[in-house]
Amino acid sequence: MSFSTLADADLNGKRALVRVDFNVPMQEGKVSDDTRLKAALPTVDVLRKGGARVILLAHFDRPKGRWVPDMSLAPIVPALSAVLGCKVTFVADCQGKDVADAVAAMAPGDVVLLENVRFYPGEEANDPAFARALAENGDIYVNDAFSAAHRAHASTEGLAHLLPAYAGEQMRLELNALDKALGHPERPVMGIVGGSKVSSKLDLLRNLVTRLDKLAIGGGMANTFLYAQGHDVGASYCEKDLAETAREIIRLAGQNNCKLFLPIDIVVAEKMAPGAPARVRHLGAVDEDERILDAGPETVERLCRAMGNSRTLIWNGPLGVFEIPPFDKGTVEAARHAGDLAKAGKLVAVAGGGDTVSALHHAGCAEDFTFVSTAGGAFLEWMEGKDLPGVAALSKQNKR
Ligand code: 3PG
Repeated sequence: MSFSTLADADLNGKRALVRVDFNVPMQEGKVSDDTRLKAALPTVDVLRKGGARVILLAHFDRPKGRWVPDMSLAPIVPALSAVLGCKVTFVADCQGKDVADAVAAMAPGDVVLLENVRFYPGEEANDPAFARALAENGDIYVNDAFSAAHRAHASTEGLAHLLPAYAGEQMRLELNALDKALGHPERPVMGIVGGSKVSSKLDLLRNLVTRLDKLAIGGGMANTFLYAQGHDVGASYCEKDLAETAREIIRLAGQNNCKLFLPIDIVVAEKMAPGAPARVRHLGAVDEDERILDAGPETVERLCRAMGNSRTLIWNGPLGVFEIPPFDKGTVEAARHAGDLAKAGKLVAVAGGGDTVSALHHAGCAEDFTFVSTAGGAFLEWMEGKDLPGVAALSKQNKR
């Protein structure tokens, strides 16, 4: 897909309306993980150096078109200012006179953060009148929020049709990395999909088996596949009503020459509690009061071998209950192996999705991956093969 980047833009003196994703975790009124703030830095730097006035647009949480003071973006200003290394002026609205006045007072290189766009119903409705009200404060539009690009909202989609539109640096990095992983990957390309629910990842699995050479299924969702193949899963989490769907995915993988890797051994325990006694079991040898909580050592070894014979890896979802040791072992070992291969230049390793990123941080190897996406839902929809409205609107072909 072809889209304009900041390198194509004349920035000097321009009012740049920049859609960022500052939907960050907060604890006691403070930003507890500033990854998404840091992701905005390259774009803000390019714009400031180019002499633009930087007007940041973002959402926080889901106020559903109402003014919810607890969902104001004001509390992130100190952390944002520290990350950007400059003063950030907050305006308690995102459209109208107060914003116009604040923007008129800006000098080139200044940064303003506007209030939560989702306080207005027009944002999620992608109301053209609301998009026009936002557009009044900008000469150009920069979308740097890949992680919100699955939403067809006024600030993520509508604006791109009203102003000259550019992909920001984070957006560009995400799109390039994702293209390398699934669009035009070096083959063989392998996927690892984990997490608990098959039901939330059906479209993703159906898409991946048609595009990958190998797919490993782990986490709670693997239980449903094991059950579908006739293995006893004891008291494990399992979506038994999806057994036929799991068999359909296995068939689809076969038809598309995608080699499926299901667990060949598992780690079980009676309780899902920190330090609970864990036992390694062969498939089918699970007692009725035992739960499958992690991939077994032979499974992990086989996955690591398969990664070693691949050129590209795309990972979403943990292999076990990584938040509760010792059930983090499978995920940690596999993630570290992928990280080592990537660091040695043998594998393009791309990961994304909320739990996945936490799991890689827990394993201490997020930095070793080729690329870790800041996106949750957008990453999943992209892996499902869907067009993301925020990305599509940036595409040169889709200009109205
Ligand atoms: C995210 O946190 O994944 C994005 O900011 C999107 O948020 P949303 O799911 O509330 O649209």
